[in-house]
Amino acid sequence: MLVDTHCHLDFNDFEDDFEEMLQRARESGVTAMLNAGNNIGEIDKQLEISEKYPFIYTAAGVHPHNAAEYPNVKAEDFIKYCGHKKVVAIGECGLDYYYDYSPKDLQIRVLREQIKAAQETGLPLIIHNRESDEDMAAVLGEEYAKKPFSGVIHCFSSSREFAEFALSIGFYLSASGMITFNKSNDIRDIFADVPPDRLLVETDAPYLAPVPVRGKRNESSFVKYTAEKLAQIKDISFDELAEITSNNFYRLFRKASDKGRYAF
Ligand code: NI
Repeated sequence: MLVDTHCHLDFNDFEDDFEEMLQRARESGVTAMLNAGNNIGEIDKQLEISEKYPFIYTAAGVHPHNAAEYPNVKAEDFIKYCGHKKVVAIGECGLDYYYDYSPKDLQIRVLREQIKAAQETGLPLIIHNRESDEDMAAVLGEEYAKKPFSGVIHCFSSSREFAEFALSIGFYLSASGMITFNKSNDIRDIFADVPPDRLLVETDAPYLAPVPVRGKRNESSFVKYTAEKLAQIKDISFDELAEITSNNFYRLFRKASDKGRYAF
């Protein structure tokens, strides 16, 4: 059993072979997927998929790339979808100073509204953080002090210092295909020291396909390559890693658990 804890299944990339893609995921041992939010204005497409497939969960969010489209978005705009039984998280949301598609102050404002939604609903946050460690730690730290919330740093690719900060507020760190890349020694070193009970694996499909399929369109079946690499890094068996990360998924995204208080 493996959970792809972050993918974008509503993207056009999967239009032509959606069922085949799901079948390959099943054959690779994937038992659940979390289809991250990207653009709250298009959440209907995510909900439609999650209503059709019991093993696909979803989240309400605005990606930092799209923050400029939502200058006046409010926590309420996310909260109103949280009563849906398949909406198990808020996000993905965050800061991206690498692409910088939206002005920084607006990225921060839109992030804060999503944190507020997490604080009010108790749902975990899916955080995107790229070349924005300092502002991200400041915003998360400040909001956490007001009212704690939980979440994951998805596709973790930050510094050791940021990893330690995120762990200190109870966050989980998610490994993507990036941990399989040749140049990613720093990220592998950090994952070697992350407590096992805070690890998740993801694809971020259709992006970031892991070695040995790097450069292809990514899909949930490929999460096994990232899991294999993470098992090596942690010096445990693949099965053990799969079990640990799947248990972590259901602990963090507790609404997704069939034993949880929001049973599907
Ligand atoms: Ni993503």
